[in-house]
Amino acid sequence: MEEQVNLFKYLENQDEEKKTSAEILQEWKNFCLQCRRCSLRKGARNIVFGEGSPDARIMFIGEGPGGEEDRLGRPFVGAAGELLDRIFAASALKRQEIYIANIVKCRPPGNRTPQKDEVQACLPLLIRQIEIIDAPILVCLGAVASRALISPDIAITTQRGSWHQIEGRHIMPTFHPAALLRDPRKKKAVWEDMQEVMKKYRKLFPEG
Ligand code: URA
Repeated sequence: MEEQVNLFKYLENQDEEKKTSAEILQEWKNFCLQCRRCSLRKGARNIVFGEGSPDARIMFIGEGPGGEEDRLGRPFVGAAGELLDRIFAASALKRQEIYIANIVKCRPPGNRTPQKDEVQACLPLLIRQIEIIDAPILVCLGAVASRALISPDIAITTQRGSWHQIEGRHIMPTFHPAALLRDPRKKKAVWEDMQEVMKKYRKLFPEG
């Protein structure tokens, strides 16, 4: 009897192992699309799960959806997204080969900064998403992402551009593209940070 139970457990695990990361991520997305863990869902049109390659080696994490993202259900498709696309192009990265997500998956009213309890409610969904994609490099775009994923005390202005090693992943905090739209002088710093990111990428994946 015990042996039979173990066999079932083993077969279950086999099934789990046979699933691709795309399939596991899709199941996780379906779960997340039912989320009602905080009140942000009530004011949002769409849950912006994130998008890109389920096997991405680099993940970019923003703060939360804005108006365009909420309307289309996709991350970084507004003005900040256009600038992010230019940053990707300058780094020879394509949206299809990386992954983009946010700290909160629902738009905060009036694009305000997500509150602590909203971040706490949404973070486990992102953590699982990061585990499934298993990218070794994460780029935190702005203070909200850096505080949630690196340290609550991080000061983005002075601490951007340096690597943090957390649970085997290399995490780089840099400015949010919206900050560059407000202050173009920050572009140089992000350019330098992206060169570091690409250097790390080439070191980890010399075969390309
Ligand atoms: N800003 C973010 O932080 N995320 C988006 O998806 C869009 C704008």
